[in-house]
Amino acid sequence: MLHLDIQKEPGSPIMKQIYQQIRYKILNGEIKAGEKLSSSREMSQNLNVSRNTIMSAYEMLIAEGYLATIPGSGFFVAQGVEFPETPSGINDYQMTAFTARQLEEGTIGFHSGTPALDLFPRSKWNKIASQTFNEAPVSALGYDDPQGRPELRNILALYLKKVRGMHCHPDQIIITTGAKQGLSLVAKCLLKSGSEVWIEDPSNINVRKIFFYHTDHIVPIAVDYQGIRPELFPAGGSPELIFVTPSHQFPLGGVLPIQRRLALVRFAQKSDCYIVEDDYDSEFSYRGMPVTTLQELDNKKVIYIGTFSKILFPSLRLGYIVLPFPLIEPFREWKRLGDHHSNSLNQLTLMRFIESGELERHIARMKKIYHKRRDFLIAGLHEYFPDQVKIIGEMAGMHVVAEFLGVTFTAELIQELEKARVNVIPVEEHAMVKGNHQNQMILGYAHLDEAEIAEGLLRLERIIKPAFCSSDGKKNYRE
Ligand SMILES: Cc1ncc(COP(=O)(O)O)c(C=O)c1O
Repeated sequence: MLHLDIQKEPGSPIMKQIYQQIRYKILNGEIKAGEKLSSSREMSQNLNVSRNTIMSAYEMLIAEGYLATIPGSGFFVAQGVEFPETPSGINDYQMTAFTARQLEEGTIGFHSGTPALDLFPRSKWNKIASQTFNEAPVSALGYDDPQGRPELRNILALYLKKVRGMHCHPDQIIITTGAKQGLSLVAKCLLKSGSEVWIEDPSNINVRKIFFYHTDHIVPIAVDYQGIRPELFPAGGSPELIFVTPSHQFPLGGVLPIQRRLALVRFAQKSDCYIVEDDYDSEFSYRGMPVTTLQELDNKKVIYIGTFSKILFPSLRLGYIVLPFPLIEPFREWKRLGDHHSNSLNQLTLMRFIESGELERHIARMKKIYHKRRDFLIAGLHEYFPDQVKIIGEMAGMHVVAEFLGVTFTAELIQELEKARVNVIPVEEHAMVKGNHQNQMILGYAHLDEAEIAEGLLRLERIIKPAFCSSDGKKNYRE
């Protein structure tokens, strides 16, 4: 019986998933020419989807020549469609499932990393953008500097000094299309097959995927509530780079103490490797100034990655890397070969947005709003789950982690939550070593107003409360 992995999630039509998975299996030779497929009745029982859905997928495969049908006998894989070169890393289905993660109307999505997009000051940005377009030098309309507009890099260097205490020359900055591109450039320039990469565990799954495209030697280093633990660095290991999020560990939210920062930097100096510092959301620090950076401690060993996705909006696709001097040329060249440069007009608009003080005003305003939303969420969690929940990583950023005593976030429980139209990501999804974070859930709050958070909490309570019953009710977090 053909194994298909069907995800019943909003925005990801089942017919399309069936069609794409069968098509992929035919192309890569997993099911061979002449092989008979299960009847639509069997397949429908097996997958628990309607026969019509199966028939629609089969008909599409017949129309495109992947399947042939012999009346009365069934459906067979057609001749001459095997194509083993089909990339095996990500198949069509996985890509569909990813791009389709649009939430159904009415769902409360506690996903992390989305700012309050409805509160972005569009008219201010728009005014600056149209002025910029009218006044920009003609060079901004042509093939431009791969490293980014010097005007933006100059002001960004000043901004980073003022806000993050960093000392960097504008030439050390490359303007990217976001942190992900920064990480891709790091991987392209520094990694080859077999290179050793040490990475916080748990860490953003997409970051790992970027590195995995270049090497399969990824070593997880466990984090605790403060961040990465240098005492766990494998003896005798020789990493090419170490990936960390020291200002606000993703996802657990720890702020790395200075002792560990120093240990990390000393290790990189001694073993001649790079530290990749991903500083994705530390501007939203709720106990005053954002913490200082690792780059400030060593600008020869630390590659600093920043993004405007959180402090402005993700679709702007602007971010930056601050590089040690010897890395500038190769990074610049890979950037040029990839997309030549990031959008120059957006770069100039951003430059003016920073220059006019609008960026800092916007951050200050959002910080107040996020702070209130965070407090509202935490108070609600304690109210709905008294003594049963512990909050982690609340000092900065746009999400917290809620640890529920005695609950395991199984796929079934997550599905139950989805049925109740509340979308959450368990920490475990971001973990390399499985089994250590099963009772932790990421709760992004920045993009939700208080009414939405309140409704989300009600739905969480309704579904999660019964899951406590099976746990050891004697313990609680006040002990
Ligand atoms: C750890 C981490 N780094 C960086 C980013 C931002 O990526 P980008 O700047 O490409 O939007 C995210 C997104 O949520 C993230 O979680």
